Amino acid sequence: MAGGLAASYGTFFAYSGRFLYPARPAERGWMYVAVANDLQVGDALTYRTPAGAGVTVARQGDEGGVGDFIALSSVCPHLGCQVFWEANNDRFFCPCHNGAFDPSGKPKSGPVAEANQSLPEYELRIEDGLLMINVELESLVSVSTRQPRDERTA
Ligand code: FES
Repeated sequence: MAGGLAASYGTFFAYSGRFLYPARPAERGWMYVAVANDLQVGDALTYRTPAGAGVTVARQGDEGGVGDFIALSSVCPHLGCQVFWEANNDRFFCPCHNGAFDPSGKPKSGPVAEANQSLPEYELRIEDGLLMINVELESLVSVSTRQPRDERTA
């Protein structure tokens, strides 16, 4: 009985500690995206962060600085579909339910506008002509190195 009580209290304090002292925030850092001048006005590329997040990096201006670029999550906040930059319509667009965002990622129409859901933005900078993005460096998914049962016995 004493062992059961100790296990119960141990579990209780372990969960309490995780609630009171949540895990530290993920480490962030600057990662290479592209040579800045390789992207022309209206161009966009899809970037995947080390943590697996999809980001659309679009060139919207021609002033010659980092303000020409924007990096927004490419995951629609409505139900998670892929969002695309449409330079000819000057918007980010989600084809799943016709969700549209303005060039800064603010909701314009569709379910995202009704729910006032913006696209999260990532910080960019240019270093020696290279476009860099500030992202989480840690993967949120653990990768198993175990072999499937069939390969272990072969
Ligand atoms: S998933 Fe994008 S508008 Fe519904």
